[in-house]
Amino acid sequence: MRDKETIHQAAEIIKKGGIVAFPTETVYGLGADTFNPLAVARIFEVKRRPYFDPLIIHVANPVDVKKLVKEIPPNAKKLIERFWPGPLTVVLLKKEDIPDIVTAGLPTVAIRMPNHSMALALIKECKRPIAAPSANPFGYLSPTTAEHVREQLGDQVDLILDGGPCPVGVESTILSFLEEKPRLLRPGGVSLEEIESIIGKVEISPIEDRPSAPGMLPKHYAPRTPIVLDWNVKNLDRYEDKNIGLLVLQEPKNNLKFHSIEVLSANGDLREAAANLFAAIQRLDALNLDLIVAESIPEVGLGRAIMDRLRRATSKGE
Ligand code: TXA
Ligand code: MG
Repeated sequence: MRDKETIHQAAEIIKKGGIVAFPTETVYGLGADTFNPLAVARIFEVKRRPYFDPLIIHVANPVDVKKLVKEIPPNAKKLIERFWPGPLTVVLLKKEDIPDIVTAGLPTVAIRMPNHSMALALIKECKRPIAAPSANPFGYLSPTTAEHVREQLGDQVDLILDGGPCPVGVESTILSFLEEKPRLLRPGGVSLEEIESIIGKVEISPIEDRPSAPGMLPKHYAPRTPIVLDWNVKNLDRYEDKNIGLLVLQEPKNNLKFHSIEVLSANGDLREAAANLFAAIQRLDALNLDLIVAESIPEVGLGRAIMDRLRRATSKGE
């Protein structure tokens, strides 16, 4: 009941041009009315996000996609039927009336239907699609709890809806349908294997070769503490008197003295690991360590999305 009132209040804020942080199954989003360019502009300001990086539009019903795009290719339709509501974003040719600030002036738009009762209730109550990036300052880790949003954006947002921890924990998978063959732009909550089992092989953009506009910059999801992937153990000598944190899938293989260890999933379950990923990095980041060492994990299923985020978090490039 209280949730219902809070959602009503959140919807009123969005309808009046405000911005609201809300939970989805992947990560928390920072939402505004898609058709209010000034409200959307505030999202970019609060996040300090470059205007060339477009937002995802969130709908509460698959039929609403028709109002936003010129056409829905058959493969996109199949995936929407299979995975929505869920962590899959489709990039399609947009209709002209979608404000350019939402799509960064691109002829395309990214759309998804989140699988979270609060998100869906909010969109329905607003009676309009909600444009929302993840609710973190640009380049930083995505929030998977309301507390993360509070710490990162605090009173810069008009309201934070608290729906508890996000069950998937990594962002949606993004697939573009602009070319003959669908192209994976970002691995995420729906695995490549699941997608290919429905529509066959898709193209995969290598990390350095992604479109320059979208926020798929090599350096992203970065904590404040330096983080390295698979640090050669010998290198740890020069960190002997330093505090080092370790991020591993299961129990650590070596017995080095780490100040703190985060195990993503004791049984090596990649879904559980994805759900824990950002919160585990946040906890290590809060310890003021000198270094975080992350160990590689198998790149199958959700492991692909986890490794994508770890590579970006550790990348030296900007
Ligand atoms: O799970 C998610 O997708 C979360 C939740 C809140 O829905 N959202 C999210 O949004 O991760 P954001 O803004 O952090 O990431 C959206 C990505 C960006 O990298 C952006 O460049 C890309 O989607 N994107 C948006 N529109 C696009 C387009 N038209 N073409 C290609 N990429 C696009
Ligand atoms: Mg983001």
